[in-house]
Amino acid sequence: MMTPALRKAGTPDWTAIAALCADTGRQGDPVDDDERETFAEHWIGPYRELRPDWTFVAVHDKKIVGYLTGCPDTLSFEKERRRLLNPRPDSRQFFPHLVLVKLWAEHPAHLHMNVAADFRGFGTGAALIRFFFADLRKAGVPSAHVICGPSAAPFWERMAFRTEATVQAAPGVTLSAMARPVS
Ligand SMILES: CC(C)(COP(=O)(O)OP(=O)(O)OC[C@H]1O[C@@H](n2cnc3c(N)ncnc32)[C@H](O)[C@@H]1OP(=O)(O)O)[C@@H](O)C(=O)NCCC(=O)NCCS
Repeated sequence: MMTPALRKAGTPDWTAIAALCADTGRQGDPVDDDERETFAEHWIGPYRELRPDWTFVAVHDKKIVGYLTGCPDTLSFEKERRRLLNPRPDSRQFFPHLVLVKLWAEHPAHLHMNVAADFRGFGTGAALIRFFFADLRKAGVPSAHVICGPSAAPFWERMAFRTEATVQAAPGVTLSAMARPVS
């Protein structure tokens, strides 16, 4: 049984986190080779630059096999991200602005998570969430949200997240905003 060790990310970890992001970025599969760098920078860069204390990694045999990026204060984070990093639009913007603002106000933390294909199904994702939630609890954050596609929604349900809003991103592709209290 593979049981990776969990810890906070440190400065030397970001390159491996970005690589794992590109390896898993297309609903768990790798993104195209020519997209890897921009894709990973879009999804990892803001956490590295703006909230480096809120990323956690799962390590097996000195290799990063899972990560969780997040922050406790999405409203402030989003303002900073848009002002300082000038990001391109992404799936989050399929939701109407008012829905996002309500989500950020009521469930201030958010997270993204990916586990390497060979390490899925061994409890790593659940353990990373517990790690993140322990820090949210210490920081007094009441609730967290995640935005996911149809293939990941059953996992977040299993982790006690409940659907707050949905949007059709494309024919047959529903994006869900899901939330869970921290306590
Ligand atoms: C989703 C993901 C992060 C889960 O991590 P994981 O380490 O495989 O999950 P765990 O082993 O901790 O699973 C915890 C529980 O959820 C269940 N589960 C895992 N993946 C599931 C899925 N896709 N659908 C439903 N349940 C799922 C497990 O069976 C386990 O249930 P149990 O408590 O009854 O044993 C991982 O599978 C992954 O990276 N997938 C591809 C990328 C992705 O979808 N990321 C999320 C983007 S929003």
